Amino acid sequence: MHQRKARAHQLPKSLFFCGLAAFAIALLWPTQRPEASVAEWGNYVGAKRCQVCHQEAYDIWAKGPHARALMNLTGQQKQDFRCRQCHTMLADAPMEHLRGIQCESCHGPGRYYAESYIMQDEELRKELYFKEIDEESCLYCHQGNQTGFKPWNYKEKLEKIRHW
Ligand code: HEC
Ligand code: HEC
Ligand code: HEC
Ligand code: HEC
Repeated sequence: MHQRKARAHQLPKSLFFCGLAAFAIALLWPTQRPEASVAEWGNYVGAKRCQVCHQEAYDIWAKGPHARALMNLTGQQKQDFRCRQCHTMLADAPMEHLRGIQCESCHGPGRYYAESYIMQDEELRKELYFKEIDEESCLYCHQGNQTGFKPWNYKEKLEKIRHW
């Protein structure tokens, strides 16, 4: 115990606070997802808007597991905030056009970047909430939620949702 404390003191302060923050997040997981707040509904445009320019991606998504993630639940489960955390884009948004796990669940809220000239500008779109996707983007929902005995494999799962 004593030794550990001494080591913590040798760490730069910022690192220590990073650790604290990570710990706090871990404690709150999965009930606190920063982007899922009422204030942000307006930043999400819905998949139909992306469809206008990404028809192929849209068609594949619409047939995939995510589009129907909310519809697959029973009536009562659809209202259950706990289930909505992972089965729809914004747990607290009742709007029909934001239902299910949509493009913006992974690519980031599209209100500002969903314009051709912005989408073509890698720097600008990042400033406007377009997200780079990596395994972390999936784990919030998928960690510990897979069916079957095989461990979750990012590459395999990516293949199953390939729309690019
Ligand atoms: C008005 C047309 C338009 C709309 C609406 C639109 N996009 Fe795009 N998107 C583009 C264009 C143009 C590109 C650039 C294609 C390229 O560089 O090859 C692009 C690129 C992308 C890319 C690929 C980025 C990369 O890796 O190069 C993704 C992902 C994407 N859009 C997602 C979305 C999502 C999600 C939405 C809805 C929130 C959306 N787009 C809405 C036109 C649009
Ligand atoms: C932490 C995220 C998370 C939460 C919370 C969550 N789920 Fe899920 N759920 C998932 C994931 C991820 C899958 C897909 C797992 C797979 O197929 O390997 C899934 C799959 C399911 C399936 C199977 C769907 C199918 O097509 O077979 C049902 C049913 C389901 N969840 C119901 C619920 C209910 C009811 C609740 C609320 C009590 C809930 N889930 C809460 C992430 C979550
Ligand atoms: C479950 C997460 C997820 C959802 C939902 C999702 N995408 Fe993607 N999308 C990805 C991943 C992962 C890639 C692979 C490229 C990458 O690593 O950025 C990708 C790639 C793309 C690309 C091509 C990027 C390129 O490199 O050319 C486009 C365009 C795109 N998505 C549009 C959409 C649209 C439109 C929707 C909704 C109809 C959608 N995506 C839904 C995760 C998702
Ligand atoms: C917002 C939560 C959420 C995010 C983020 C998410 N998923 Fe899912 N995913 C789900 C839920 C819920 C299901 C189950 C849907 C159903 O069957 O009703 C699912 C199902 C799937 C399935 C089909 C079941 C299986 O495991 O084979 C695949 C594949 C998948 N997701 C891949 C991904 C990948 C890859 C990413 C990241 C790029 C990702 N998901 C991000 C919630 C999420």
